[in-house]
Formats: sequence, C-alpha cells, structure tokens
Amino acid sequence: MDRYGVFGNPIGHSKSPLIHRLFAQQTGEQLSYEALLAPLEDFSGFARAFFAEGKGGNVTVPFKEQAYQLADSLTARAQRAGAVNTLKKLDDGRLLGDNTDGAGLVHDLTVNAGVALKGKRILLLGAGGAVRGVLEPLLAEQPAALVIANRTVAKAEQLAREFADLGPVVASGFDWIDASVDLIVNGTSASLAGELPPIAPSLIAPGHTLCYDMMYGKQPTAFNRWASEHGAARTLDGLGMLVEQAAEAFFLWRGVRPDSAPVLAELRRQLA
Ligand code: ATR
Repeated sequence: MDRYGVFGNPIGHSKSPLIHRLFAQQTGEQLSYEALLAPLEDFSGFARAFFAEGKGGNVTVPFKEQAYQLADSLTARAQRAGAVNTLKKLDDGRLLGDNTDGAGLVHDLTVNAGVALKGKRILLLGAGGAVRGVLEPLLAEQPAALVIANRTVAKAEQLAREFADLGPVVASGFDWIDASVDLIVNGTSASLAGELPPIAPSLIAPGHTLCYDMMYGKQPTAFNRWASEHGAARTLDGLGMLVEQAAEAFFLWRGVRPDSAPVLAELRRQLA
C-alpha cells in the first residue's frame, strides 16, 4: 500500500491523518497515512528515510522551510512561498516540493464561501510564514488592493516588495488604516494566545465585510468574536483552509480531487 504521512514536531494534534483517510475512503484510493514526529535536529535525515519507501508527505510546524531546502524541485507557488507543506516522490525518485496552503485558502473563500476576490479590497494581518504562503494565490485572484498590516512593519514592507510584481500589494502598520475593506484575513498567530491584532473596528463595514481567521478552534477565535461584535457580514475560520490544502495535496499525489465538503462537516462535528 502506498505510504503517506505528515511530519511535524509536535504532531499529536494533527488532523491530517483523519482528513486523508476520509479522502482515501471516499475516492477508493489505496493508501496509508500516519502522523509522524520528526526530530527537531534532523528533519532531512528523517524525511530521506521516510521517502525510501514513502510516496508523499505533508509538512507542518516547524519544518516547512527545511522541506523547502530539502526538495529537489519546487512548484512556482512553493518557490514564492519560500516554504513547502507537501512533498511528492517523483517516478525518478526526486522529491517535488509544493505549497498548497494558499490554494486552500483561496478555494475555501471562492468555492466554499462563494466569494469572488477579483476587484476586492483585502487586508491581510501578519507577515510571517502563514501570510507569505498565501500571497501568490490571493494576488492571482486580482484583488483591487491587498494591504499587508503587521506589528513589525518592516516585515510587511519586505513582503510587499517581494510580491509587488504580482499585483497591487502595499504594507502598513496596524494603526495606519481605518477605511473599511471587503475582506480581512487574520494570518497572525495572535489568536493562539487569545490576543487580537490592534486594528480599527471601522475597517469592518457592518453587514458587508467578510472576516477570515486562518486559525480555528472549538470556540470562535478571538479575532472572529471581535469581527462579529463589530458587525462583520460573515466570519470564517481556518478549518476549511486546512481541509482544502489537504485536498490539493491529495490531488497532487493521486491525481484525484476529493470532495472536501463531507470531510469538513465531519471535522466540524468532531471539533464540537
Ligand atoms: P506563522 O508561520 O504562523 O506565520 P510567524 O512566522 O512566527 O508564524 O509569524 C507570526 C505572525 O503573527 C507575525 O506576523 C507576528 O507579528 P511580528 O512580525 O510583529 O512578530 C504576528 N503576531 C504574533 N503574535 C501577535 C500579537 N499578539 N499581535 C499581533 N501580531 C502578532
């Protein structure tokens, strides 16, 4: 049976085995998929040993940049992201590195939530790996403007420079902006600590603005609670993005696109 896995440290909490097993059941693909704890000091040795037999892997915290270094070739979106969340062993034994995180976010927004991004004003909060990973696919949707706001403004400026050739992207501090936007995506890790990026409530046009937190949890995240309180038309969390990035990885490995909706529903049910 073809072997797959997700590599992280820690890894116990990963929902990827459940997601990929449900995809395999649904599509009739014969494969195994496990969560594997990779050692912090030797990711590449671990991955090389896995790929002696294994066909593909997902990569999570803190190994996405190391997976980028390890890959023998990269997709254009992984190259831009500077990080790899999906590895595939090619027929000649070389490892292809891809990054499906941004495609997962865009699919969740455009297909699952039914929101067209073309011509929209988008505010992206944060300038770390999570934001870098979604910039190319978001800009490919041709928004009217994409503002990256970050606590450390220099990091937002760096990203804006790097992606300027792909679309209208500018950097900002959290308190430099107050005019409402169509979509706010929280890509900071502030929610992990139950914290909020300090942004103006007027960025939300009541009944209009969609707010999306890349984080998710059993309860609405701090950011989504804040957004609801200030009248956001809708709030979405990152569980959909998680399932969609997995569906993209599954497609890369198997050439079959699973139906993500029943899998997302099952995850949501288990989370509750
Ligand atoms: P990730 O890979 O999840 O993006 P990261 O690269 O460490 O992780 O980036 C974390 C992001 O969350 C950064 O944009 C960080 O802001 P700084 O660049 O100023 O450090 C942001 N962040 C983390 N905690 C935050 C908080 N409490 N308020 C606002 N932003 C926060």
